[in-house]
Amino acid sequence: MKYRKSIICLVSVLAVATVAWAGVKDTKHNFASATSSPNAYFSGTTQPCVFCHTAHNAGSEAPLWNHENTAPPLYDVYGSNSIDMTIQQPHQGSLICLSCHDGTIAINSLSNLPGPSGAGNYGFPAGAALDGLGRLTATSSAFIGTDLSNDHPVGIIYDATKDPTGFVNKTGSSLSYPDKLLQDGIYVECSSCHNPHDDTYTNFLIESNTGSALCQRCHTK
Ligand code: HEC
Ligand code: HEC
Ligand code: HEC
Ligand code: HEC
Repeated sequence: MKYRKSIICLVSVLAVATVAWAGVKDTKHNFASATSSPNAYFSGTTQPCVFCHTAHNAGSEAPLWNHENTAPPLYDVYGSNSIDMTIQQPHQGSLICLSCHDGTIAINSLSNLPGPSGAGNYGFPAGAALDGLGRLTATSSAFIGTDLSNDHPVGIIYDATKDPTGFVNKTGSSLSYPDKLLQDGIYVECSSCHNPHDDTYTNFLIESNTGSALCQRCHTK
């Protein structure tokens, strides 16, 4: 009974959110539309949310998660002599993105297809950014790959005490910066800087980076 109640509750959250985030339909993350996602869309599909979310049998990686996950390949992580904090393999706030952006898994490989069909591939790949199996190709501007050594580090345990003059101190409250940007109030991940639903600030940035404002939520430089 308890289980059923929570399912109904989660389904209604998703239904309400359809209204709140109508915006995802007009972004490159709408793989059901050749107009919105010109380089990576799937013919024969109609539901934009289902590429990432399902109402039933969802994974726990993100709310009602529906995309096949990377059985993490060991990523090459960022390193430099001036790094002071601990960098680990990426955590969930990055793995959910890398499950498409590292190029190892098809964009349309879902745990729960629309209708009663279980796991499988939804629609047929089209657009220059995809290979025949529906994976991002290395030539796509959206391709990050499994080598993260040339990208802003993720999987970092944020600890300003390791570099007090370079970083904003944590506040201990998820309502204020920089904590607001950290997964579980601890880690810097893709989700620290990106919001996969909203392209208002381009590149799915979480907020405007004009004047490098986003960078300075954490860096004091
Ligand atoms: C490209 C993948 C993707 C698509 C498409 C997508 N989402 Fe999401 N969604 C995510 C990710 C990733 C998260 C988790 C965000 C996080 O943890 O920072 C999320 C979280 C959510 C949440 C949890 C609440 C929150 O504040 O984050 C809701 C509700 C949601 N999505 C609804 C929707 C709806 C409705 C659609 C379709 C209109 C949609 N999403 C399309 C990736 C996607
Ligand atoms: C279901 C697969 C999927 C998931 C999950 C996903 N993306 Fe994407 N994303 C794509 C594809 C495919 C494109 C390219 C679409 C196109 O060019 O038409 C894209 C485009 C983008 C772009 C725009 C790139 C450009 O060249 O304009 C950004 C930025 C981005 N994604 C970031 C993220 C981040 C950050 C996350 C996690 C929070 C995420 N994505 C989750 C598949 C995904
Ligand atoms: C510290 C902030 C930050 C983090 C963490 C971050 N990004 Fe970005 N990302 C940006 C900014 C800012 C841009 C805008 C373009 C630029 O300046 O390169 C961007 C651009 C992108 C693009 C567009 C193509 C490109 O390379 O410019 C993709 C795709 C992307 N990010 C995916 C990801 C993924 C996947 C992760 C996690 C592995 C991630 N980002 C982590 C800030 C970040
Ligand atoms: C959510 C917090 C956060 C945001 C936002 C952020 N960074 Fe970072 N950044 C970090 C952390 C933490 C490190 C690792 C620092 C360390 O270990 O010394 C880092 C590392 C770096 C490094 C490498 C430093 C080195 O010593 O090798 C550069 C360069 C950098 N960030 C630039 C940027 C830029 C540019 C932006 C804006 C697009 C940005 N950061 C946004 C937290 C953040």
